[in-house]
Amino acid sequence: MLLEVKDLRTYLFTKRATVKAVDGVSFYLRRGETLGIVGESGSGKSIMALSLLQMEPKPAGRIVGGEALFRGDDLLRKSQGEMRTIRGRRISMILQDPQTSLNPVFTIGNQLNEAFVTGKQGLARGGVRKAVVDVLRKVNIADPERRVTAFPHQLSGGMKQRVVGAIAISCSPDIVIADEPTTSLDLTIQAQYLRLIKRLQDTTGVGVIFITHDFGIVAKMCDRVAVMYAGKIVEHGPVRSIFNHPSHPYTQALINSVPKLEERTERLYSIPGQPPAPGQELVGCRFAPRCEFADERCRQEYPPQFEGLSRHSEHTADCWRLEDPTWRPSRH
Ligand SMILES: Nc1ncnc2c1ncn2[C@@H]1O[C@H](COP(=O)(O)OP(=O)(O)O)[C@@H](O)[C@H]1O
Ligand SMILES: [Mg+2]
Repeated sequence: MLLEVKDLRTYLFTKRATVKAVDGVSFYLRRGETLGIVGESGSGKSIMALSLLQMEPKPAGRIVGGEALFRGDDLLRKSQGEMRTIRGRRISMILQDPQTSLNPVFTIGNQLNEAFVTGKQGLARGGVRKAVVDVLRKVNIADPERRVTAFPHQLSGGMKQRVVGAIAISCSPDIVIADEPTTSLDLTIQAQYLRLIKRLQDTTGVGVIFITHDFGIVAKMCDRVAVMYAGKIVEHGPVRSIFNHPSHPYTQALINSVPKLEERTERLYSIPGQPPAPGQELVGCRFAPRCEFADERCRQEYPPQFEGLSRHSEHTADCWRLEDPTWRPSRH
């Protein structure tokens, strides 16, 4: 197993309240696989991802429990020095906005050079130059020999995103974490970029954690998906299984809110109500206040995890309703 996260808890201790941004999250990632993490804004996706690299926002953020085993070694117990050898080399992160990930005063070539030099001390000067051009070619940048001398402002948005992607893969990491990498791009560029990540993965076997609020993108990109709500993973499973048999009312609501092609002109369905306010005391199922099926027990007691839904041992969901076998998705 490439990565195994067990009961991760990251709290943010602010003046006004303790925000349990990540509240007991467990998941795993295999080599060559793409795991989608999906959920509305504020559900704790970014804090979770940052925690894996010990980059939770300081000083408020603190990892208060859990393990993140990277090839069996706990990332959460590593020193800052050890983490520096892992960040960007073994595990790299593509952030939301390519604009802010690139330094405007250095050329593309400089920034890639830097990534290679910190990643692989062994490369000789000429070797670095060749590696930079190669990686730009890999991410479909035409005429890479010329582009290395360009500054970020001379490139289009899509091209900048691809350069960020090139930096993320420049040291052949084992894991790439992409946190909403496409939100600031137009649809055509998004599609190109998603295809690019997929292709890189096929050739390198890198494991990808793909964070998004968009279930439509999950369907295109991911092998498995974990649905996150208010700091917890409420449902998890193979993508097809989740789409065909969503078992948690929150997952059902998210899938229903994906615009269908033929209904393009209709108003987007959105989930009624609001996620819990940050710092709000949470008991019972976090989704209960917005759930049409919730009863008193849902509001009082967090549900157990039900496994083996829709014929898949890997398909799990936390919902009291699944206690009743007639609510479980069919086994055939
Ligand atoms: N620096 C911070 N200080 C205090 N609270 C924060 C900070 N960053 C995020 N939060 C809170 O933590 C929760 C999870 O945020 P985040 O991980 O960014 O969600 P997502 O990525 O799913 O949109 C939210 O309630 C958010 O308001
Ligand atoms: Mg986020």
